Amino acid sequence: MQLFLDTPDTALIQELAETGLVDGVTTNPSLIAKSGRPILEVIAEICDLVEGPVSAEVAATQATGMLAEGRKLAAIAPNVVVKVPLTRDGLIATNEFAREGIQTNVTLCFSAAQALLAAKAGATYVSPFIGRLDDHGADGMGLIAEIRAIYDNYDFDTEILAASIRNPAHVTAAALAGADCATLPPAVFNDLFKHPLTEKGLEQFMGDWAKTGQSIL
Ligand code: E4P
Repeated sequence: MQLFLDTPDTALIQELAETGLVDGVTTNPSLIAKSGRPILEVIAEICDLVEGPVSAEVAATQATGMLAEGRKLAAIAPNVVVKVPLTRDGLIATNEFAREGIQTNVTLCFSAAQALLAAKAGATYVSPFIGRLDDHGADGMGLIAEIRAIYDNYDFDTEILAASIRNPAHVTAAALAGADCATLPPAVFNDLFKHPLTEKGLEQFMGDWAKTGQSIL
């Protein structure tokens, strides 16, 4: 499973990329707004830090505007993935981007029917929003399983990118449900390393080791 960071924070991306476990980055207009930085500059910096896919979202809502913005974003670096909303215009743009060889991440997916359309439009990735569905009283993880089954039935190449992830349990469940990738807030990425028994066990091992008075080097 590929793990992406869902943040425009370049300092955090650089720090976490050092683990060798970061496969890509996603951003959205809200995250860019929160960063207070110009989108073109942030995306260029992220692309210098990460070799894998970097999603940059269009702000236009009409297909013609999305195409113009998407081409400009895609020109920043070869690993830019143009993120478009799952709307009729978004899928018209996705279709054209596919013809032009521009990678896309179709975002704000909340139903299996929407995901089917995204795949038919030639999306590189589709982003079902798990956390927001759960917040809404629906079954976010059930959606991942439905999309997996549909994509497998028809051999669609579109990758399922589990988004709106809130905790490590979401990551595990998305992996079990067959998501190809998950995009995580940095805090959730850091939480993946942790387990209280790991910490307890290590403390015990280190205490016992110290009593031996040995040194490996
Ligand atoms: C995905 O690409 C989105 O940027 C993100 O996962 C949305 O998460 P949120 O629901 O926590 O805002």
